[in-house]
Amino acid sequence: MKSCTIHLTLLFLFSTIPGGFQPASALPLSTKGRWIVNEAGRRVKLACVNWPGHVDTMVVEGLNKQPVDAITEKISSLGFNCVRLTYAIYMLTNETSNNITVRESLLRNGLNESVAAISVNNLEILDLSLLDAFKAVVDSLARNNVMVILDNHVSKPEWCCAREDGNGFFGDTYFNPDEWIEGLTKMATNFNGVTNVIGMSLRNELRGPRENPDDWYKYMQKGAEAVHAANKNVIVIMSGLNFDNDLSFLSNKSVNLSFKGKHAFELHWYSFSNPGEWISGNPNQVCRRIAGNVMRNAGFLLGQGFPLFLSEFGIDQRGVNIEDNRYLPCVLSLLAYLDMDWGLWTLQGSYYTRQGQIGTDEAYAAVSYDWVHVRNETFLGVLSSVQPPLRGPGLDEVPPYKIIYHPLTGQCLLRDYVGSPVRLGTCNESEAWTYNEQELALMKESSTLCIEAYGDGLPAKLGIICGGPSSKWSMISASKMQLSSQLSSDNSTNSLCLDVGSDGQSLVTNQCKCLDGSPQCDPESQWFKLVTSTRKTISMSS
Ligand SMILES: *[C@@H]1O[C@H](CO)[C@@H](O)[C@H](O)[C@H]1NC(C)=O
Ligand SMILES: *[C@@H]1O[C@H](CO)[C@@H](O)[C@H](O)[C@H]1NC(C)=O
Ligand SMILES: *[C@@H]1O[C@H](CO)[C@@H](O)[C@H](O)[C@H]1NC(C)=O
Ligand SMILES: *[C@@H]1O[C@H](CO)[C@@H](O)[C@H](O)[C@H]1NC(C)=O
Ligand SMILES: *[C@@H]1O[C@H](CO)[C@@H](O)[C@H](O)[C@H]1NC(C)=O
Ligand SMILES: *[C@@H]1O[C@H](CO)[C@@H](O)[C@H](O)[C@H]1NC(C)=O
Ligand SMILES: *[C@@H]1O[C@H](CO)[C@@H](O)[C@H](O)[C@H]1NC(C)=O
Ligand SMILES: *[C@@H]1O[C@H](CO)[C@@H](O)[C@H](O)[C@H]1NC(C)=O
Repeated sequence: MKSCTIHLTLLFLFSTIPGGFQPASALPLSTKGRWIVNEAGRRVKLACVNWPGHVDTMVVEGLNKQPVDAITEKISSLGFNCVRLTYAIYMLTNETSNNITVRESLLRNGLNESVAAISVNNLEILDLSLLDAFKAVVDSLARNNVMVILDNHVSKPEWCCAREDGNGFFGDTYFNPDEWIEGLTKMATNFNGVTNVIGMSLRNELRGPRENPDDWYKYMQKGAEAVHAANKNVIVIMSGLNFDNDLSFLSNKSVNLSFKGKHAFELHWYSFSNPGEWISGNPNQVCRRIAGNVMRNAGFLLGQGFPLFLSEFGIDQRGVNIEDNRYLPCVLSLLAYLDMDWGLWTLQGSYYTRQGQIGTDEAYAAVSYDWVHVRNETFLGVLSSVQPPLRGPGLDEVPPYKIIYHPLTGQCLLRDYVGSPVRLGTCNESEAWTYNEQELALMKESSTLCIEAYGDGLPAKLGIICGGPSSKWSMISASKMQLSSQLSSDNSTNSLCLDVGSDGQSLVTNQCKCLDGSPQCDPESQWFKLVTSTRKTISMSS
């Protein structure tokens, strides 16, 4: 990233979804082509949240706010099956940091208030060494069936990441490659045999004036071998260049490792990865351009048979950042389409200290400042749509079909009876839709049923008249996510697109938005992505 008690009424409890988190007995994980699989060869989709322990104090954030078990239980109840837990190399290697306690580290940073608060919420952790405290957090995650990826975020503990902060690339002021290998090895050794630790990220967001592909291969391969030699259970995860936006160099030369089936790549993608672009352009065009760049810079790895983990993405959850608001549905459409493993930035509602400010709030956080409430239930509800896996090894439950995903709301197109409007609802209740000869149809009935348009502002309904203009839909605009009805295709200035009605649920056809390319225009309510699934949903259970 540049720059507890749960609501019992929360609607989005995904921990019970079949095919989500696999029991600990099926660990460790490995890779099979682009998929991460368990011991039984069944896909496990990583739906992670980031949780930092790499900032100045090297103490995992939030222990001053809530008991650690309350935090880890909340993580699990929100449907995250995994945490990307960050740490600094100095916790393992620095002679003045590697044997101090949590209390000492906080006091050294002038955080006596945090000491007092941790003595209330997590007294048993306060006088542990930094590494033992980190282990206590991993153990607590294990008690709640949450998997862990140990992520080396920095060498010198501090807020990450600036281009020239000395922590960015091999050979930078604080980034000694030998010390890094030593730290990785110690971490891998310490967590060897800890079942829920399923992966290790070698280094977060490589960057800065020194970065170059030759050194990337040299050191990343060395780091991967060191981790694997110390711990054969973990999947070794490699971050790219330019703040982990760029893995394009791998298209010409793959990594050369002595081991197989324990290796993945990671990618980061924020609205500020493309400064100013989301606000200065038309969202249809910007989404197409940036998603295309993401595919060229990293997404191609999936096609080459490597897992690619979107290990950081996220938004300001106050809903005030226009760039974030446009970016999110674009990211979600690609995440769903590729059915990728991912990690939200971020969990922490607050920091002990960050960039010299004590008790900083985090607008990107899943939880509130006091770590008690969910910060924005709407946002987490949207995110829950990409938690369950849709396909992959062991998930071939029914022949491939399409869900019609609405990334703005994280919902999918559902139907009731013939003649009633189609509507949005939870994706796990989707019918098996097809898109064939421009018709959005349900084929499982004895006769095909199609989605039909009726006119401007009128509901789109499930009907029996397939084959006419009212049932034909083209994927239009630069984003190819607007579904335009052929009822109106003879008049492009007046064409009708599938949209959400004023009740927020039933679907209607409205004038297609933003086709003129204007930047002051938001088409996202008309974005639908056809996504392949092979999962049996409750509507197919009979
Ligand atoms: C479907 O998702 C909803 C929330 O989006 C959840 O409450 C429900 O339990 C899920 N159903 C199944 C069968 O997984
Ligand atoms: C160890 O950490 C301290 C405090 O950050 C720092 O001043 C010192 O230079 C570090 N030592 C080494 C060898 O990096
Ligand atoms: C911990 O630090 C103290 C003080 O610097 C030192 O005397 C001691 O040897 C260290 N212990 C270990 C186990 O490294
Ligand atoms: C923390 O230190 C400050 C300044 O020394 C002091 O005013 C404050 O009372 C201390 N707080 C606690 C909880 O000890
Ligand atoms: C791949 O190699 C070709 C030919 O050497 C070069 O032109 C291209 O820039 C390289 N691509 C990447 C992404 O490094
Ligand atoms: C891969 O690494 C091995 C061991 O270091 C080496 O023998 C081999 O030549 C390398 N292969 C390539 C294609 O670089
Ligand atoms: C929550 O997030 C949604 C969607 O991102 C946004 O529209 C809304 O304003 C946010 N609500 C609050 C209370 O921050
Ligand atoms: C297209 O729609 C516009 C606006 O309703 C109307 O003025 C125009 O005459 C229509 N053109 C055609 C060719 O139907």
